[in-house]
Amino acid sequence: MQFFIDSADVGEIKKALALGLCDGVTTNPSLVAKTGRRFADVLKEIVALVPGPISAEVTATDAEGMLKEARELAKFGPQIVIKVPLLVEGLRAVKALSQEGVKTNVTLCFSAVQALLAAKAGATYISPFVGRLDDISQDGMQLIGDILQIYRNYRFDTKVLVASVRHPVHVLQAAKLGADVATIPFSVVDQLAKHPLTDAGLKKFLADWEKVPKEAK
Ligand code: E4P
Repeated sequence: MQFFIDSADVGEIKKALALGLCDGVTTNPSLVAKTGRRFADVLKEIVALVPGPISAEVTATDAEGMLKEARELAKFGPQIVIKVPLLVEGLRAVKALSQEGVKTNVTLCFSAVQALLAAKAGATYISPFVGRLDDISQDGMQLIGDILQIYRNYRFDTKVLVASVRHPVHVLQAAKLGADVATIPFSVVDQLAKHPLTDAGLKKFLADWEKVPKEAK
């Protein structure tokens, strides 16, 4: 399973790259707003750092507007993936972009039939938001299983990118289900590495090491 970093914070992306845990990056307007920086400046820096796919989201809500923005965003680098919301207009834009060979990530997906439409439109990635479904008492990971089953039934090439990941169990379940990608906030990457028994075990080893004679007699 590929790890994308769900962030527009260049510092976090650098830390994930140093750990070998940044196969790509996903951004969205809320993540960019959190940086307080211009999107163009942030995107330019991310493109210089990350060779893998970088999702950059359009903000127009009509297909023509989305296509215009997509063409500008694509100029930032060959690894740019155009992130398009799962609207009827978005599907029109995805269809046109896929015919032009431009990679797309269809975002704000909350149902398996929406995912089916995105695949038929030629999306490169589908982003089902598991955490936001959990928030309204629906099982986000069940949706991932459903989409994977449908895509396997019909051998769609569209990759399942698990989004709105909130904790390590989402990552575990995504990997067990065989999702292609999980896009992970850096705070969750940190949680993934930690285990209280690792910390306790290391503390004991280091304490015992102090008891080992160091000098030859
Ligand atoms: C996906 O690409 C989105 O950027 C993101 O995963 C949304 O996560 P959230 O629901 O935590 O905002």
